[in-house]
Parts: sequence; C-alpha cells; structure tokens
Amino acid sequence: MVVARHRVQSGIQYCGLGVVNCPRLPNFDKSNGYEEIAPLFVPGRGSNTSGVGASVVAEWSQRLPRGAAILDLGCGTGVPISQVLIERGFKVYGVDASPSMVAAFQARFPNVPVECAAVEDSDLFGRTFDGAVAWGLFFLLDIGVQRRLIAKIAGVLARTGKLVFTSPSQESSWQDAMTGRTSISLGYEAYRQTLESAGMSLVGTRRDLGDNHYYIAEKR
Ligand SMILES: C[S@@+](CC[C@H](N)C(=O)[O-])C[C@H]1O[C@@H](n2cnc3c(N)ncnc32)[C@H](O)[C@@H]1O
Repeated sequence: MVVARHRVQSGIQYCGLGVVNCPRLPNFDKSNGYEEIAPLFVPGRGSNTSGVGASVVAEWSQRLPRGAAILDLGCGTGVPISQVLIERGFKVYGVDASPSMVAAFQARFPNVPVECAAVEDSDLFGRTFDGAVAWGLFFLLDIGVQRRLIAKIAGVLARTGKLVFTSPSQESSWQDAMTGRTSISLGYEAYRQTLESAGMSLVGTRRDLGDNHYYIAEKR
C-alpha cells in the first residue's frame, strides 16, 4: 500500500492511495530549497543508483534484523539510499518535504509508503522502527530542529534500534552547493551529547568516498 500524505497548515490532507501526486502548495516550502532545485536533483543524484552513500548505508544495514522496518528521513527520490535498503529486503518508510521528490520516489517505488511532510511536523507513521537513516538532511535544519529531531527519532526507535545520519564532524556552517542556503553542523561533541540525552549512544562514525561524515547511533 502506498501512503501519500501532504500536511497543510490546517492538518493532514490525504492525497489518496496508489501512485498519486502531492499537490504543490505555494508559500509553504519546508524542503529547505530542495523543491526549487528538484528539476536538477531528480535527474542527477535521483537517477544514480550507485550514488555516494549507498555502500555505507548498505554496510550499516547489516546489523539490522532481516526484514526490519527502516525510516528514511529526507528520503528525496529514494535513489540510492532507500533503494539499497529495499533491495536488501527491508521495509522502508520515506518522509520528504518536497512534493517533486516524493513524486519521483513514488514513481520508482510505488509500493513503498512515503509521506510528503517536513520531518519536524510528521508523526513518522505513528509506529516504531528498527532503524532510521537521514542522508543529507540534518545540516539543512535549524539547530533546535536538529536537536528535537534526534529526540523524535529516539522516540520511534525500538530498543537497540539503529540510526545513521550524515553531518560534518566539525561544528561549522556553510552554503549548500545546490540551494545556496546556510547549512549547519552541530559537530561531533554536540551530536554525541544530544544523542546521549535522547537515550541513544553514538557507537561509531564513517566517511565515504565523497568525504561525507556519518554518525552511527543505537538506542539503549
Ligand atoms: C541532500 S537531499 C538528500 C536526499 C536523499 N536522502 C538522498 O540521499 O538523495 C535532502 C533532502 O531533504 C529534504 N528535506 C529538506 N528539509 C526537509 C524537512 N524539513 N523535512 C523533510 N525533508 C526535508 C529535501 O527535500 C531533500 O529531498
């Protein structure tokens, strides 16, 4: 079953079941500029099935139970991150704030649940997960939103549930190369402390060929 929901200020609008389009809502972009650059992103990273990040996420997923439920936050088109998980038999649930990204995700993975919503607003399908992945999302969010998102993820992970997300190891800010917007990393120590306060332990870090830095955490 495909779940496509688009949150509006007055609540949740159900777009229907099956392959549907999420309507564009003027002046209500919570995708941090990604809806605007989707015409570049979708045929670029969104069509590169061996794109950067896939191998690190595939390796991370080896520690999850067979058929585990995994949340992909800021899933984009689902290529390549959701894709490597789906190919390995995991039950993936996507969330992304860009209607164009969600439409591309649905076109490629018509049987995978995906919600068109900001992660900070979403109820994350109202269920628990064995794992959560957020590739290229955290640093797009304000500092307070990042901290609250970590607590929110901890709230939907089962005990020993696993999280992997990308963000630089240094506390820093920079311009996003695609959108020109400001990105912010809390840095290693602040992420570690925020995870700790949320009942999660930072158990490792990784770096990929594109020099992206990964935080790997586990719920206690
Ligand atoms: C750098 S892209 C990464 C997409 C995907 N994870 C991948 O690996 O290709 C960041 C994604 O986060 C989404 N995004 C940005 N802010 C968001 C928010 N507040 N809630 C949900 N999604 C968001 C964007 O729409 C975009 O698809």
